[in-house]
Amino acid sequence: MAKKIIITIDGWSSCGKSTVAKQLAKELGYTYIDSGAMYRAITLYFLRNHIDWTDDMEVKNALNEIHLHFESNLKSGESEIFLNDENVEYLIRDLIIADKVSDIAATASVRTFAVAQQQKMGSNKAIVMDGRDIGTTVFPDAELKIFMTADIATRVERRYKEMFEKNPNVVLEDVQHNLEMRDYIDSHREVSPLKKAEDAIVLDNTNLDMEQQLKIAINLVKQPLV
Ligand code: DC
Repeated sequence: MAKKIIITIDGWSSCGKSTVAKQLAKELGYTYIDSGAMYRAITLYFLRNHIDWTDDMEVKNALNEIHLHFESNLKSGESEIFLNDENVEYLIRDLIIADKVSDIAATASVRTFAVAQQQKMGSNKAIVMDGRDIGTTVFPDAELKIFMTADIATRVERRYKEMFEKNPNVVLEDVQHNLEMRDYIDSHREVSPLKKAEDAIVLDNTNLDMEQQLKIAINLVKQPLV
């Protein structure tokens, strides 16, 4: 049986990380973990409960009340996130959450909370996790690290289409502004900013379709295993 490894996929917002991560996990029979969903679910809890995320004591107390877990949807087979036993997978994709998530994810206590859980999830390997700091902070010794990128116009278009399907009132300029803002905050924060791990392999999918990018990703998996 092939050796089980940890695969990390980091990169800019909406550059297709989760698509590749899900495809790879399915292909290899691995678990897929969407670390961004964890930060989004925490953000939902903070907004609902009016938590002041600039107050570290308040943040720590709130985190004590948060339990996150993933479950596979029996119909779609996709992994979905639960916040204190409520399925919030769809709620957390809203722009209201996207608007605040980068600020909340930049706080040190929130990161400590999420990273500890992510590391536990990878303790048996056979995992594909996507996010911003997975190859640099969560699993610095991962066997395969991919850093994904695509040009901003392509990313805006993809995210707009995805959001439009759920909400036809979504405005393209709002989507673009949100992506640019998150890219800036995610890559400039003090604690584990988004950056390419030195040993990560860059995958630019601006001009690739899903099939082509999966082929490249699978070839990358094969390389370290031979
Ligand atoms: O991948 P996503 O767009 O769902 O992530 C939402 C936000 O969560 C992103 O803007 C920054 C934050 N995030 C993070 O700080 N670290 C991660 N490992 C994953 C996401």
